[in-house]
Amino acid sequence: MSAPIVSVQDLRIHFPTQDRRETVKAVDGVSFDVLPGETFGIIGESGSGKSTLGRAVVCLLKPTAGQVKLGGIDPYSLPSAELRRRRRAFQIIFQDPNAALNPRMSVLDSIREPLDIIGEGSRADRSRIAQEMLERVGLRPEFGLRYPHELSGGQKQRINIARVLTVRPSVIVCDEVVAALDVSIRADILNLFAELQREFGLTYLFITHDLGVVSHVSSRIAVMYLGKFMELGPAEEIAERPLHPYTQALLSAEPIPLPSSMRATRRIILQGEIPSPTNPPSGCRFRTRCPFAQAVCASEMPAWREAAPGRFVACHFAGEVTGHPIDAHKTKEAIA
Ligand SMILES: Nc1ncnc2c1ncn2[C@@H]1O[C@H](COP(=O)(O)OP(=O)(O)O)[C@@H](O)[C@H]1O
Ligand code: SF4
Ligand SMILES: [Mg+2]
Repeated sequence: MSAPIVSVQDLRIHFPTQDRRETVKAVDGVSFDVLPGETFGIIGESGSGKSTLGRAVVCLLKPTAGQVKLGGIDPYSLPSAELRRRRRAFQIIFQDPNAALNPRMSVLDSIREPLDIIGEGSRADRSRIAQEMLERVGLRPEFGLRYPHELSGGQKQRINIARVLTVRPSVIVCDEVVAALDVSIRADILNLFAELQREFGLTYLFITHDLGVVSHVSSRIAVMYLGKFMELGPAEEIAERPLHPYTQALLSAEPIPLPSSMRATRRIILQGEIPSPTNPPSGCRFRTRCPFAQAVCASEMPAWREAAPGRFVACHFAGEVTGHPIDAHKTKEAIA
């Protein structure tokens, strides 16, 4: 098996609250590896810490504790020039297609901008690369002369993809990249991501609150809730046999377009709001909304354990309460 290209070890990202009296534990002890060429999905409700985690992976946020290794190296152990160079291989695309586009810059100038900042090669070379990437993301050459206000959301997101491709990244964190787009063009953009992955050998960290999107593109999925992972495993297995009640609740909340095999057998309706990450519940963080919570769930934090090969979960009653007992997994694997 190849070495992980991203390795996250007990990562914590904490922020002071505005009055500085308390701490927002946005990411609070998360560990996982991403292998080269895979699409690793991270799913969870708004406020679970997904964007904070994604930003930490591309060095936009420094860990409060724990570590993110990129290509086996802790980037913060490097001299600053080397850190800048290494960071280039790890790019991020945001939900808001306007976030990275300057309204006063033409499309071609915007695509070329990351290369201009690095300052490699001649301006003509950089323009040629920008032009190539513009066409590679499915836009005609004349789009290069346009300005952001003349483009649709989908076209802008294509420009954002072209921008990051110019620096030849190996990993792209895609943070809700289709969430702001019309449903009708989401599939086109997801297909573009898939094509580019094959062509450039890219690795994706695909962050979304939409299970339909993540199951469409991911090989493995992590389910995040209030700063922690609840469950991690192969996308298909997580969707078909969730071990954690929170995963089951997310599956239950999906409107019909999921394939029938992925629709929840036991529906769990999520009640109420996600609690505050400033003061998360004791024991299991999901216990205030979990229909199966018992006394032990408040007193003991469930361990993060490998319940079946490649399937990690944090729940005292993993599998039992979702109707997919772990013993059944073991038996299935033993037979196979
Ligand atoms: N810079 C920040 N300062 C304080 N709190 C923050 C900051 N960034 C994020 N948070 C808080 O951290 C939690 C997780 O946020 P975020 O990572 O954006 O979650 P998600 O992307 O899953 O919606 C939220 O409660 C959010 O308000
Ligand atoms: S540990 Fe308890 S509260 Fe947490 S998900 Fe499992 S059953 Fe629910
Ligand atoms: Mg977010």
